[in-house]
Amino acid sequence: MKKITFPIDFLWGTATASYQIEGAWNEDLKGESIWDMVSHTPGKIRNGDTGDITCDHYHRYKEDIQIMRQLNLNAYRFSISWPRIFPLGKGNINKKGVEFYDNLINELISNDIEPVVTLYHWDLPLALQEIGSWENREVVDAYVEYAKFMFDHYGDRVKKWITFNEPAVFTVSFYGGGVFTGNRDLRGGYIASTNVNVAHAKAVKAYRNSKNPDGVIGITLNLTHVYPKIKSSLNSEASYFIDGISNRWYLDPIFKGEYPEDILNFLKTKFNFPDIPQGDLELLKENPIDFLGINNYSCTWVAAEKPEDLTRVSKLIKTERIEGREYSKYGWEVCPEGFYDLLVRIDKDYDHPVIYITENGYADKDDNIENGIVQDDDRLNYLRRYFKAAHDGIKEGVKLKGYFIWSLLDNFEWLQGYSIRFGLIRVNFETQERIWKKSAQWYRDLIAQNGFDLDL
Ligand code: NOJ
Repeated sequence: MKKITFPIDFLWGTATASYQIEGAWNEDLKGESIWDMVSHTPGKIRNGDTGDITCDHYHRYKEDIQIMRQLNLNAYRFSISWPRIFPLGKGNINKKGVEFYDNLINELISNDIEPVVTLYHWDLPLALQEIGSWENREVVDAYVEYAKFMFDHYGDRVKKWITFNEPAVFTVSFYGGGVFTGNRDLRGGYIASTNVNVAHAKAVKAYRNSKNPDGVIGITLNLTHVYPKIKSSLNSEASYFIDGISNRWYLDPIFKGEYPEDILNFLKTKFNFPDIPQGDLELLKENPIDFLGINNYSCTWVAAEKPEDLTRVSKLIKTERIEGREYSKYGWEVCPEGFYDLLVRIDKDYDHPVIYITENGYADKDDNIENGIVQDDDRLNYLRRYFKAAHDGIKEGVKLKGYFIWSLLDNFEWLQGYSIRFGLIRVNFETQERIWKKSAQWYRDLIAQNGFDLDL
């Protein structure tokens, strides 16, 4: 039997986000967030679902931590709801909100589970959307104040911080795509992405100057390995461009304090994009991260037919299925080789950073329950192959220090509502019952052995 073993001290976790699991959307003086607003707007979310109650984790966190314990987790990644702490985004602090996370963090620590905190997982206080969201630098200032408060208040117990989750998605795709305003504004989305980098760098700086700066701080990016569908020089050029739009635009400012020239020129031609202030770049250079969080689920295929296609993003990225490739029922391609290639490439191109996989997982309907356990063999096989790819990366020298499965529980999947499930644990949203899946049992055993048998 061939067994693969992970390094000692490897972090094994699961990840969640406040709006997706907490519920209690208007309890204990919590302010409204943009996702409360979106989900209460008819027609925005599939089946009219909302996060009003979702997994009711706000009231059930103790029970959920017991599940984490049974899973043998040694770390848990969750996010803080900014409008629970500052209902209007800035100004008055809501003690009840602060208390909730005090309790959650203390409960995790007393169960030997390390809290890994994301400061921003998309639930912007609505009051800040009303002044222009991340396109307005006043929101950057409000975020830095919020971050400072977090570091000073929880920093004695929290030693791993993530400034932002997936800037590409909440700036360019959602904000730029008009999810919150109804107006598509890609230029605004890209400007927002540069402002978020400034907020990130200022938060890193604030952390170094906080009361307890003895932990580590990083950012989580959604990254995808880009492959040309056909090997040709036109297609490698196309892949390089899509890699720039999807990956380098977010990685280069964080690691090098600069934006990729080709993408900047593309944005200038397309949207008359403004110059990036020199001060922003300096701030980024002066405030490096301690680790990179990577969210990865799949890979990207690109094909160009003629040179004019080269700057047409939606034409280049192939969304239709490719023969011979494997897909989940949800339609995402299963691509462990893309995960491996991504890890090795980041290691090489960005000077061997410490990496945590802050999200990876598999979506399904999960309706096959036998003997009280959800039979999710497809998820289990997916995870097995991705873990093997991660292990191959470590053997190749990638400084991978931990892995967080998305997600602990089935939860509110943004625009898709509850129509798809990502959890290791099934949630019956009518009764709030938690039901184990086969993949959860497998993960529990894997963590106990710090590895798994390849041949099973
Ligand atoms: C990305 C996001 O960070 C998370 O909120 C989302 O639910 C998962 N990936 C799955 O789409």
